[in-house]
Amino acid sequence: MERKEVIISPEKIKEQYRYMDLVKDLLGQRMQSVHYAYVETFGCQQNEADSERIMGMLVSMGYTKTTDPTNADIIIVNTCAVREHAELRALSITGQFKHLKEKKRSLIIGVCGCMVSQEHRKEDIKNKYPYINFLFGTSMNYRLPEILYTALIKQKRAYYLDCGDQGNIAEGLPVERESSFKAWVSVMYGCNNFCTYCVVPYVRGRERSRDKGEILSEINDLAKKGYKEITLLGQNVNSYGKDLPEEYDFADLLSDICKIEGDFTVRFMTSHPKDASKKLIDTMAKNDKIAKAFHLPLQSGSDRILKEMNRHYDKKSYLELVSYMRERMPDIAITTDIIVGFPGETEEDFEETLEMLKTVEYDNIYSFIYSKRKGTKASVMECQIPEKVKKERFARMIETQNAISNGKNNIYLDTVQRVLVEGRSKTNPDKLTGRNEKNRLVHFSGPDSLIGCWANIKITEAETFSLSGELIK
Ligand code: 5AD
Ligand code: SF4
Repeated sequence: MERKEVIISPEKIKEQYRYMDLVKDLLGQRMQSVHYAYVETFGCQQNEADSERIMGMLVSMGYTKTTDPTNADIIIVNTCAVREHAELRALSITGQFKHLKEKKRSLIIGVCGCMVSQEHRKEDIKNKYPYINFLFGTSMNYRLPEILYTALIKQKRAYYLDCGDQGNIAEGLPVERESSFKAWVSVMYGCNNFCTYCVVPYVRGRERSRDKGEILSEINDLAKKGYKEITLLGQNVNSYGKDLPEEYDFADLLSDICKIEGDFTVRFMTSHPKDASKKLIDTMAKNDKIAKAFHLPLQSGSDRILKEMNRHYDKKSYLELVSYMRERMPDIAITTDIIVGFPGETEEDFEETLEMLKTVEYDNIYSFIYSKRKGTKASVMECQIPEKVKKERFARMIETQNAISNGKNNIYLDTVQRVLVEGRSKTNPDKLTGRNEKNRLVHFSGPDSLIGCWANIKITEAETFSLSGELIK
């Protein structure tokens, strides 16, 4: 019953298509023949996926995609709120766009994403960034055509933030994917977990799963177009299906995706350790299409801190899960997220986390300095850790992990790795770069024609963050 309310009705989506036509007509009446759209994206893959739909709508409205904001006629900044650093970067970039607007008065600037869904940030932008045309929260993305049309005809600032807690699901919107061989596919949105440090449940609403038919048909289409890598997205993919009327969970979805014909790999993120099931691990082990790589955020290695974080697992159950994964898939790559300096974290708590890194031997970790998020429980906890201590612990964490990653990379020496070639290396354009099944970066020499294809590489060198090798013909 609840689901009917979260899915935006086809009539409402059609209405947005009508607005797309209206905007297209308006642009057509102008002297200018090309109108450029620029989207700046901060934060996670979900935001990147959202931006691809935002660009999809803009292109459908007659805009041409540009990677250069200086020639844009419309700029959308898609923001992140997970850490203060990301917010400050988004605000700083938005500040820089003011000069563009001074040069081109007709420039439209919109700000969306997680940051603007917070009341205090909305007020900040309202007061300090008067040249922004409109703000829209994550559950308003699908209304961009209407929002833009209104901005073009009324030239009055507007705020579309009334999303409530629930959130929604909008199907059938156009998408302009960044890559022609790697695709994001959201399977669910929102989060119900309320980890005490995290702002996501407040800005992305409650958990809601996309209809399996919609997901399978999107992937079918991608496979037919020759996409080689499909990454399923959700704040907590293991909750997939809990809100669906039929008994159907994330493992069932993965099994069905693997039945789709095509030479593609499936990845997924993110899994919550409290919900990652043996059934999911068995499904991974059974299906060759699923990359043997698992991102399993630990956050802290101290049971006391995990409790304070409201994570609902302990070190023991986490390690049991890791053991089961390795039992079923001995060479699986495991990565994690760690927060350093959560309120009240003692030296002993921190050392327990370092111990966990050594015990699990992660292939890679994403570590973050704890950032106070307004409205979350942890932000008002006593014993906030001084910045200096957080930084010192962060450095020790990186040092510990680097030694582990280095050792892990050495095992690839002299092996042949199948990689998906992504493009030219940013640091060394003479080389191509790709990723193997375990998500390791591999550099090698080869022609541009390999970009977007699978290639076999004999590994000759291992560094901390990447491998190098030779293309096998
Ligand atoms: N401070 C620091 N890191 C955070 N994360 C989420 N909230 C915060 C915060 N307030 C990290 C978690 C999560 C990742 C996406 O971001 O590790 O898994
Ligand atoms: Fe944030 Fe926790 Fe939800 Fe992840 S599971 S999005 S860390 S609240």
